[in-house]
Amino acid sequence: MCGIVCYIGEKSAKQILIEGLKQLEYRGYDSAGIAVHNGDRIEYCKAVGKITELEAKLNGRKMEGHTGIGHTRWATHGEPTEINAHPHMDQEKKLFVIHNGIIENYYNLKKKLEKDGVVFVSDTDTEVLAHMIARYFDGDLNKAVRTVMSEVEGTFGIAVIHQDAPGEIVIARRGSPLVIGVSDNGYFAASDVSAMVRYTKKVVHLKDNELATLTRDGFAISTAQAKRVERDTETVEWSAGDTDLNGFPHFMLKEIFEQPSTIENAIRGRLEPGEGVPKLGGIMPVWEKLKSCRHIVIVACGTSYYAGYVGRYCFEKLTEVDVEIELASEFRYRKFNFPPNTFIIALSQSGETADTLAAIKEARRKGASLLGIVNVVGSSIARETDAGVYNHAGPEIGVASTKIFTSQLTILTLIALLIGRHQTLPLTEGTEAIREIMALPDRVQRILAQANHIQAVAEKYHKYPNWLFIGRKFNYPIAMEGALKLKEVSYIHAEGYAAGEMKHGPIALINPDMPTVAIAPKDDMYDKMVNNIQEIKSRKGPVIAIITEGDERLKKIADDVIEVPPSLDFLYPVLTVIPCQLLAYYCADFLKRDIDKPRNLAKSVTVE
Ligand code: F6R
Repeated sequence: MCGIVCYIGEKSAKQILIEGLKQLEYRGYDSAGIAVHNGDRIEYCKAVGKITELEAKLNGRKMEGHTGIGHTRWATHGEPTEINAHPHMDQEKKLFVIHNGIIENYYNLKKKLEKDGVVFVSDTDTEVLAHMIARYFDGDLNKAVRTVMSEVEGTFGIAVIHQDAPGEIVIARRGSPLVIGVSDNGYFAASDVSAMVRYTKKVVHLKDNELATLTRDGFAISTAQAKRVERDTETVEWSAGDTDLNGFPHFMLKEIFEQPSTIENAIRGRLEPGEGVPKLGGIMPVWEKLKSCRHIVIVACGTSYYAGYVGRYCFEKLTEVDVEIELASEFRYRKFNFPPNTFIIALSQSGETADTLAAIKEARRKGASLLGIVNVVGSSIARETDAGVYNHAGPEIGVASTKIFTSQLTILTLIALLIGRHQTLPLTEGTEAIREIMALPDRVQRILAQANHIQAVAEKYHKYPNWLFIGRKFNYPIAMEGALKLKEVSYIHAEGYAAGEMKHGPIALINPDMPTVAIAPKDDMYDKMVNNIQEIKSRKGPVIAIITEGDERLKKIADDVIEVPPSLDFLYPVLTVIPCQLLAYYCADFLKRDIDKPRNLAKSVTVE
């Protein structure tokens, strides 16, 4: 979604802002803009479309200055036009603001301002912030922002500069992330560390209802009540190279191929093979409660939700815990009767998904304990949960989540195994599970080695407009994830179904123009899956089967097969999802889609 980058320091701001905005492109956006204070006044430039359009408009313009703010906008209020792009400004064009989030009471605030004679030029909710802060400004920009914070409802991460406050950037957050970056030649602020990781790895996270003033000499954080906050810098693990393509044509493909190492990162230092027990330091603060827990609710959105869905089957297999899985966006509308000692597990790559955050806040209100499985260190969900496990998978840039999915599956399995071994799971099963988990990176590598074959399958089928994905038990969520991956990057319509549901409806769709991806490894669902595949073949539906290596039976029945190495039933999803990811990628590539930034999608969904 929208992205923020700001710089104040010794260097010229313009190029740093443009580079930072390019690093935020993956979040999804439809327009961009920057504003730079040149010591006397503020110059700005905005453009619809890609950052390259903004660069083209800036071409030849000097825009000198050491203080600046930049923004990528993903339209919510008002179409993606230049006038609606950020920064927004007051009527005198002295104050400039960029904003992530949504001001919920903007309509009433706008009416009030209009009554006082303010003329609005854009359709955005953000413009009210510009007019309000400008009105309260009496030389103290921090105070003016603080005052407005007390009047607005909704979510925001904002950065503000004013012509009459040269050498200052004021930032503030409520529900929308902001991070300060500390470098030898200046200070940064951004919605996402990737915007500044080229310049610094030293960061300070702003918390909700805090604001900060950045100058060339430092920064001062305070609460919305003007109470000074001291906070140490943290060092981020990500490096500049993590955000490069490294020879791959797209981040999605790069990230699919990173999976042997991201799975390795998810398990490194976390396994005790002899004891058959994982070691997860991050959940130790709640371990005494967790080990006797009998009820877990997993909450997440999108791909993270499907990972949670596999997790449910995994917990049921390895532990004595009852597990529910709930879409975070629906969680608030359910009436849960949490038994005592219920744990919520929130899964989120970004750690900033608004629905997931809202769900855990609601669960906290109802007395549940909160665990997070999060990739972005220091993110809101990581902070809001009582304990958790980081993915340590590096930044995921492609909008379609791939490497985080398999990392989430691996971590959920470790948590289930840890609880299971303290409940009733025998040592032999624990040690076998650990042996098989340790084999996953090599097995994933073996599937990736078949990329050319999977590309050929995609070439054969990419023109079919409708696809079906089917699976059972552990692989039912993989059918849903496979369909999601295909639709989001290739725009091919796809449905993911539990194979047992075929006769209850979807089989009506089967004909020679409707390919089915059947996820049918050799687990205890195998025979039933073979029956489903036979039924599809009897109706002349093309079948691409994802099978266990050497499965001669399905090789004879299916039109095309993709083989995965043998594994334990609850670990198959880590393997069977890889062909689905590659099929989606190659279909999108044949169809010449914008793979890393599919239309209408944003990497981090920070609004409801
Ligand atoms: C799909 C995808 C999304 C995200 C969802 C949750 O490929 O990436 O469905 O999984 O928006 O995002 P996080 O995991 O950041 O909470």
